[in-house]
Parts: sequence; structure tokens; C-alpha cells
Amino acid sequence: MSEVLYSARELEKVVADLAAEIAADFAGQPLLLLGLLKGCHPFLADLSRHLSRYQVELSVDYLQAKSYIGKASSGRVTISPLNPDDSFCRRRHVIVVDDIFDSGLTMKEVMAWLKERGAASVKSCVLLRKTGCSRVVMEPDYQGSVIPDAFVVGYGLDYNEQYRELPYIKILGKNEP
Ligand code: IMP
Ligand code: MG
Repeated sequence: MSEVLYSARELEKVVADLAAEIAADFAGQPLLLLGLLKGCHPFLADLSRHLSRYQVELSVDYLQAKSYIGKASSGRVTISPLNPDDSFCRRRHVIVVDDIFDSGLTMKEVMAWLKERGAASVKSCVLLRKTGCSRVVMEPDYQGSVIPDAFVVGYGLDYNEQYRELPYIKILGKNEP
């Protein structure tokens, strides 16, 4: 049996609160939300819709970042920009948006990648943060909720490309899929 961790309604509140926090820090400023595909997609869409209620000058772009194979981190992060001109982040204030912060390696590598390419500032925003799994010294700048060390799916998060479409987040049961 799998356990629902966050209902769609609970996620809505978490994302609205994150948008308010970001808007307070970036009021009146240009901001690039940079989503990490594929897991960011519902989160980034909802976050940007909530941000539209505030005075933030928003743009959205994406990078593909991959570190997980099945239920485990491979420990190596592959970054593939969608934009062949990787100066797209130069002199921009960027918030990297990801579904979950687990070991933290993905976020650390992507933030370093952006700084090397001349971003004016780089912050991180994750919907979920797992406890006790971090392999880096950094903390996410914005984090929605802290969860126990379990493998979760839904709202963008997948297991071998399944479950991303769920409007809620659940812990994947031992006997699933
Ligand atoms: P990190 O590099 O270990 O922090 O892992 C971050 C990436 O691993 C996320 O962008 C997710 O794609 C994936 N990931 C980590 N934990 C989970 C999980 O519980 N379910 C699904 N994907 C996960
Ligand atoms: Mg991911």
C-alpha cells in the first residue's frame, strides 16, 4: 500500500507560501526561474502562476539535469541546456527550481554551472527536502516541506518515468509499481 504524503490541496498551500517568500525577496526585480526537467514541471507552472500575483518581473527557462537511476542517486549529474547558447543566464538573477533536494548534488552542480556562465546571483528553490541524505554543505534557499527519507512520486516526481502526472505526492510502496 502506498501512503499519500501531500494532497493536491496541501501542495497548493506549500507552493503559494513559497511564491510569497520569493516575491518578498525579489519585489520589482527581474528574476529568471530555471526549472530542472523533468521533475520541476507542475511545481514550476504552479509557482510561476502564484508569482504572477506579485510585482516580480519573471522569465522562465529550463535545464535538463539527471542523477537518479531507478530509486537511487548515481552520484553523477548530467546537465543538458535546452538553449544551445549557454550565455542565457549571464548577468541574470536566477532561482533554480527542482522538485526535491535529496543528496543535494544536482542543485550544487547546477548552481556551479550557472555561476561559471556568469549569472549575477543564483538561488535554489525546492518543493521537498529529504532529511538526513545531504552529501553537500549547502541548504536550499527556499524549501517547501521537509520529508522523511523515503522514495516519493507524483506532482512531477517519477519512478522510471511513471507517476509524474499524479496531482498529489505519495510514498512509493515496496511492492509498487
Ligand atoms: P539529488 O541530486 O540527490 O539531490 O537528487 C535530486 C534529484 O533526484 C531530483 O531532481 C529528482 O529527480 C531525483 N530524486 C531524488 N529523490 C527522489 C524521490 O524520492 N523520488 C523521485 N525522484 C527523486
Ligand atoms: Mg530531477
